[in-house]
Amino acid sequence: MADKITITITRRKITEILIGLVALLFASGAVAAILKYLWPQSGAQGESSEIRIASVDEVPTGEAKKFMFNGKAAVLLHMPAGFRAFGAICTHLGCVAYWKPDENIVFCPCHLGKFDPNTGAVISGPPPSPLPVIDIVVKEGAVYALKWKDPDYVRSISFYAGAA
Ligand code: FES
Repeated sequence: MADKITITITRRKITEILIGLVALLFASGAVAAILKYLWPQSGAQGESSEIRIASVDEVPTGEAKKFMFNGKAAVLLHMPAGFRAFGAICTHLGCVAYWKPDENIVFCPCHLGKFDPNTGAVISGPPPSPLPVIDIVVKEGAVYALKWKDPDYVRSISFYAGAA
């Protein structure tokens, strides 16, 4: 016959175990936050996060398509030299700029800011700096947004907070 074994767990011991588990949960959350800080999620530092913008046929030469990139308005342009993509939030006061084919510019209606559709550079008006460039790739008949060309530049524009 087997001997009967009795294990006694006191209320105090159960309380200590529960406190230990709670402490472990808090500690794991803190460790996760530290790891997230040290190694941010994909896209947070401008890494590739491929987003399909449009099929090539959808945006013929001379036309454009609006899309969202990292939570911000953006514009895809099909120029004679190829596709271009930019953040469409104006660097002046944050209005949304758009393609104006009759003038061959990206235009901000708020204070008449004008941007070069090939480079995003300011042509005229009050915007202090260019529209940020989005790296794109054309493959399998479609255009994909990859990442901000210059994430540090995007982070320097207040209207793009959280986008890079
Ligand atoms: S907000 Fe675009 S020109 Fe002022």
